[in-house]
Amino acid sequence: MSGIDKAAWLDSDRAHLIHPQHHPSDHLDAQIWVAGEGALITNSDGNRYIDGLSGMWNVYVGHGRRELVEAASAQLSTLAFAPSYIGATSLPAIDLAERLGELVYPSINAFYFTCGGAEATDTAIRTARYYWRIQGQSQKTKIISRHLSYHGSTLAAASATGVPEFSEAFGPRLPDFLHIESPYPYRFTGGGDNVTPGVTAANLLEEAILREGPDTVAAFIAEPVQGGGGGVIVPPADYFPRIRAICDRYDVLLISDDIITGFGRTGRWFGLEHWGIEPDIVQFAKGITSGYLPLGGIGVSDPIKAIIDTVPYARRWMHGFTYSAHPVCCAVALANLKILQEEGLVARAAELGARLLSRLRPLEALEHVGEVRGLGLLVGVELVADRATKARFPAEAEVGKRVRAELFKRGLYTRVLGEVICLAPPFVTSEAQIDRIADIVHEAIPAALYR
Ligand SMILES: Cc1ncc(COP(=O)(O)O)c(C=O)c1O
Repeated sequence: MSGIDKAAWLDSDRAHLIHPQHHPSDHLDAQIWVAGEGALITNSDGNRYIDGLSGMWNVYVGHGRRELVEAASAQLSTLAFAPSYIGATSLPAIDLAERLGELVYPSINAFYFTCGGAEATDTAIRTARYYWRIQGQSQKTKIISRHLSYHGSTLAAASATGVPEFSEAFGPRLPDFLHIESPYPYRFTGGGDNVTPGVTAANLLEEAILREGPDTVAAFIAEPVQGGGGGVIVPPADYFPRIRAICDRYDVLLISDDIITGFGRTGRWFGLEHWGIEPDIVQFAKGITSGYLPLGGIGVSDPIKAIIDTVPYARRWMHGFTYSAHPVCCAVALANLKILQEEGLVARAAELGARLLSRLRPLEALEHVGEVRGLGLLVGVELVADRATKARFPAEAEVGKRVRAELFKRGLYTRVLGEVICLAPPFVTSEAQIDRIADIVHEAIPAALYR
């Protein structure tokens, strides 16, 4: 697509399009992406880049998969839309829900579909409150989440999100949303007296529940590995088992936001599998269709499904979206899950992730690299102004922007969140491309920081 009048297109973009997290300064010279193949994406200048974040952490099976195009096309030509409200359903939706029952945490066997992640968060929160309310505990409404978490940009999801900028400019968060510290091994210094940092961080949940009163808390919501808010934060191994025990002790539902970590990104099908526990509600989106069409949703544990199924009609689960269980999106999800399974891509994500981490680890010898971390094919490189104190760079140094530009110059497109280089390429990235990503990061950091 080289040969387009890029300047004219961008003039029109700036005049008419409002982007996620919009600020015009981010769009002075935007990339116009025009094509994709495997792990590579092509811009309007005809240059190809490694897609270091799989689009928005979601293009797991890579770009240009004919199977997904054909699945969408076949469903579009048979039945483009069918409602799933009140007495109606469709074959792809039933198939997909049944399939998820086999793949998702064992105690979760029933699913509701949304168009994306934030709707999944809102659905999970409403369902948690509903679950308690139906059982006569209507005062159990509070939602506890963590600083540096990201759960989406709708009103409830942004209120649960632990990055204040998502709420500050829009007025206060909703009431009844509380935040505790993240289990951030690199920076969380709690522990001591025979208590590990993971248990200390989890105990903050118990303290918050006791402070608020267990009879007022509906749910705790957490990403198994924090992504978009924190820049790839992997918790200590004893954190989530302790969280599960605390939730059980105080009758608080555990919601796992597996929107980035679901469907194999961490090298297991779902994130909490790493620590041998299950949530009461799981949220998913992104990788379920590899981003080819918008789809998200929640899965609920058998006890929650039993409540939904046995209430009187007047107290039914009064929640719904026109595009819930859109048949074309469900058909694409089914084809995508088939690829993930038939090509063994979950195991491959684990292998590629281990390869990438081992090639990036030597960076920790560099003056400004604080930590290299990751789980599966979800990797972060945290840059610091001072390794001894772990002090961050001042915002005006624009380190993230500078590093991103140096990565881009060398052929890697990805995000730098704060000062964490985030890497989550497609599961079909070749070994040579993984090694190239690592080489580029090795070159870009000194180029950006030692000028
Ligand atoms: C963990 C997590 N939850 C929720 C969301 C929101 O998803 P969406 O952007 O599809 O609304 C995201 C998006 O990045 C996410 O990473």
